[in-house]
Amino acid sequence: MRYLILSDIHSNREALAAVMSHVRRKHWDKALVLGDVVGYGANPNQAVESVRKLKAIVAIRGNHDKVCSGIETGEMFNRVALQAALWTRKKLTPSNLRWLQGLPEGPVIVDGQFAIAHGTPIDEDAYIFGEIEALNVFRQTAFPLCFFGHSHFPVIFGLSPDAIQTVLTNGSAFRFRLEPGVRYLVNPGSIGQPRDGNPLASYAIFDSDTRTVTISRVPYPVERAQEKILDAGLPRPLADRLALGR
Ligand SMILES: [Fe+2]
Repeated sequence: MRYLILSDIHSNREALAAVMSHVRRKHWDKALVLGDVVGYGANPNQAVESVRKLKAIVAIRGNHDKVCSGIETGEMFNRVALQAALWTRKKLTPSNLRWLQGLPEGPVIVDGQFAIAHGTPIDEDAYIFGEIEALNVFRQTAFPLCFFGHSHFPVIFGLSPDAIQTVLTNGSAFRFRLEPGVRYLVNPGSIGQPRDGNPLASYAIFDSDTRTVTISRVPYPVERAQEKILDAGLPRPLADRLALGR
């Protein structure tokens, strides 16, 4: 089974379209969406509708999905994020708003094999930035493999019996074979707002037969997404950061 793993799309229609075009000729069976379909970007309805159209999808909510759909007030958000979330809430169609409100909280177990979570499988709003957070999650859970998002950069943490290892990739198509006896936390990176200094959209494909994760980076018309953010009256830093990838 091949899983297409999409995370942190953040209403970026251009980035999502580029990723979907990149995978058009690749074989995949099921799409997994790790949350934050909306928030920040200028095309929330298009982002939700593109995701809803995917065949065989398992999706969970992210922190921005909660605030944008009114499940939470966003009191923990910074000013720019909250302004974008309230703008998004007004723009969403009733149907797309309801779809976002209905997204389940992670972790969700996929096909009895592995988990997906937004921030961490313990707390959907918490971040895994480095090995200390990863180790904490490994200690408090038993999942052999969990895909997560929220931190907006592609990374693989592996826990073997006596060490934890981090694999950070900056390649355009990085292939990683999961080793037996090692537990993994894998972030496919962000489609709509990468934060590792690389502005290219990031996504992953996981082949559960060969136990291989491929993380790909895809160029997209960043300027177009920026123009739309500014035209919508959303805060300028949201446009600026797309070109910087942070
Ligand atoms: Fe996010």
